[in-house]
Amino acid sequence: MNLKDKVAVVTGAARGIGREVALQLAGRGADIAVVDLKAELCEDTVALVRELDRKAAAFGCNVSAPEEVNEAVQAVIGEFGKIDILVNNAGITRDNILMRMSDDEWDAVIAVNLKGVFNFTRAVARPMMKQRSGKIVNIASVVGITGNAGQANYSASKGGVIVLTKTTAQELALLPEALAAASELRPELKRVTESEVAVAAMVYGLQVQLFRQRYLAVVEMLPDLIARLDECHPVSGSLPVAMS
Ligand SMILES: NC(=O)c1ccc[n+]([C@@H]2O[C@H](COP(=O)([O-])OP(=O)(O)OC[C@H]3O[C@@H](n4cnc5c(N)ncnc54)[C@H](O)[C@@H]3O)[C@@H](O)[C@H]2O)c1
Repeated sequence: MNLKDKVAVVTGAARGIGREVALQLAGRGADIAVVDLKAELCEDTVALVRELDRKAAAFGCNVSAPEEVNEAVQAVIGEFGKIDILVNNAGITRDNILMRMSDDEWDAVIAVNLKGVFNFTRAVARPMMKQRSGKIVNIASVVGITGNAGQANYSASKGGVIVLTKTTAQELALLPEALAAASELRPELKRVTESEVAVAAMVYGLQVQLFRQRYLAVVEMLPDLIARLDECHPVSGSLPVAMS
């Protein structure tokens, strides 16, 4: 699996899952734009990527602020020349029971976790469509499906990310092509049903739901999934991948 010469943007990559994703992608040959609230926070991740002999640079950016996101995307393209992969990973929690949840707690989580994904996706959509290739991975959470007591804001934001992923896929992927290629790979998909459309729609905007205890295993799989999508079809991806 080779991501050599691909350029990946990973948000919230100063630590945690974002850093791990950045290192996994770099380990498969990708150069990494490390994005977090402040460029200084990104220094350790940048150093770790460089130890893997890949190019890395830090970009300070609040994902919830559209102008900062647009500037960051321009800066990344200025530095690296293109963006092949976007991993929308930055996320926060402000837990409280619904009755006591403040407006600030609600707004902050929606702004970072949901609007942040929208901001970055919108900003890379044009350059990716121009180059007729691109992969967008959104890190959601299982609570975006199940809900979670004490996390109304977080669960709602992640549920929003899941459906935003599907919509992004429908708008950006060439669905008929994705389906055709999918049925070549998986002949049993020849009869196109609604659920298959939904599955195929997921391939451009790849949705990854993380389960706390298993997240590292999922993160390790990400570069392979991205590389497999690249092998299948340069524009839309075409491999039906449903993770849960
Ligand atoms: N940790 C888990 O078990 C778990 C489970 C399911 C989903 N997730 C999701 O995985 C992602 C990463 O989680 P984590 O545990 O590594 O979190 P973390 O708190 O360790 O790291 C999040 C990073 O995002 C950055 N960040 C926060 N707000 C930002 C903003 N406005 N702009 C730019 N960067 C910002 C932080 O500075 C930090 O470096 C999140 O989207 C989270 O919801 C995590």
